[in-house]
Amino acid sequence: TQFDERPKPLAGRKAIVTSGPTHEPIDPVRYIANRSSGRQGHAIAAALAKLGAEVTLVSGPVTIPDPAGVTTLHVERAEEMRDAVISHLPADIAVMVAAVADWRVATSADQKIKKKPGEGPAPLQLTENPDILKTVGHHEKRPKVVVGFAAETQDVEQNGRIKLEKKGADLIVANDVSTETGIMGGTRNSVKIISAAGIDVWPDLAKEEVAERLAALIAERLGGA
Ligand code: CTP
Ligand code: CA
Repeated sequence: TQFDERPKPLAGRKAIVTSGPTHEPIDPVRYIANRSSGRQGHAIAAALAKLGAEVTLVSGPVTIPDPAGVTTLHVERAEEMRDAVISHLPADIAVMVAAVADWRVATSADQKIKKKPGEGPAPLQLTENPDILKTVGHHEKRPKVVVGFAAETQDVEQNGRIKLEKKGADLIVANDVSTETGIMGGTRNSVKIISAAGIDVWPDLAKEEVAERLAALIAERLGGA
């Protein structure tokens, strides 16, 4: 049998990670969602577990397998994801990677909405979803290290710094998700790590590599505290 003898700097630490998209129902057969494979979030959950953390992964609907060594909870909607995350506080580490749908349908239909010939589609009434990262970042049981992502198509650094501040995060992992980068759904990522101390650039890495570096950075920030 194989035995992993690497040091476990996160032994005894609890971590909560969100990953994947959320699906916000319109009716029983339709939903609103963001694009997200869950690859980056799942890799981060696995990397934290490898460093010895007790990891709970709250995942939206994805097609990739649950990572090894992690407790995975499956949810559909943003409100379910928020409830699952909050119910797992206190924790030492929160890494909110999910591409949460910013809006949900105000009142989803119980029955399939049928086309009405000649009438055209009925407009959807949307309402804003809870901001899970912001809730965790300002919670009375706020984890010692709170990490968010920032998916941007322009002004990546500026928007990342604004999110760091507004959401009460210690680190923001900002990435450019313009379609030409191929990051969405891809296996590689190119990120900027934004903290109060400044910006660090991690260009063109496998998502697993981003995950391992981030887990190491989190361990470093927790230090002996
Ligand atoms: N996030 C969250 N809950 C939401 C929206 C976002 O927890 N309802 C988290 C994401 O998981 C990510 C961070 O907030 O860690 C930033 O998400 P992003 O979509 O980039 O930012 P928003 O604040 O939603 O702003 P916008 O989409 O308008 O850029
Ligand atoms: Ca958003």
